Amino acid sequence: MGETVFQPPVTVAITGASGAQYGLRLIEALVAADHAVWVMISKAAHLVIDTETDAALPARPERLAVALAERCGARAGQIRCFGREDWMAPVASGSGAPSSMVICPCSTGTLSAVATGASNNLIERAADVALKERRQLILVPRETPLSAIHLEHMLALTRMGAVILPAAPGFYHRPATVNDLIDFIVARILNQLTIEHRLLPRWGE
Ligand SMILES: Cc1cc2nc3c(=O)[nH]c(=O)nc-3n(C[C@H](O)[C@H](O)[C@H](O)COP(=O)(O)O)c2cc1C
Repeated sequence: MGETVFQPPVTVAITGASGAQYGLRLIEALVAADHAVWVMISKAAHLVIDTETDAALPARPERLAVALAERCGARAGQIRCFGREDWMAPVASGSGAPSSMVICPCSTGTLSAVATGASNNLIERAADVALKERRQLILVPRETPLSAIHLEHMLALTRMGAVILPAAPGFYHRPATVNDLIDFIVARILNQLTIEHRLLPRWGE
């Protein structure tokens, strides 16, 4: 039997901002588009997931990968998960990291760490790698109101080539459900990744 081949991997980091559903739905959409998905979930994000959703996700990376695969209907090996200090993971180095990384949702804490190059955990390190290698980095912050610190970090990251894609869904598509609001943001992320989807009609369709 040959090895299963997926579309190129996309790194998805879920951090502890409100809106864990955005990140979980993004993983689902990437799996549906047949991409490999490399996932990191921060400690705070696990707390937010428990607070905001019914998804029971274990913390240990191997068990988390199994739970996410079950949830998303992923094929064997399609989802890989890495722990907070798994410095040997491919995302920790420019030679192994995928060409795209999304932090969704992105807490202001992680926003700050990425803007200043802290690299104190694997999510921050993977984002640092994306920046130094000039790869695609998309951050989906959720906070309101925004302080000067948040705004300065967002401006600095935009100037470094990252995309700041706030979790701020529009209402012109007449959302009827919470899922419609979630899909609005996930569709915008997939557009950035140039991944085909039918989550929302495109403007003008
Ligand atoms: C239920 C809950 C909701 C939160 N919502 C937000 C939020 O919307 N935005 C934010 O930046 N932080 C939020 N936080 C705080 C972060 O989780 C906290 O700053 C944490 O240190 C972030 O760590 P991380 O970036 O490693 O995930 C929330 C925390 C909890 C428990």
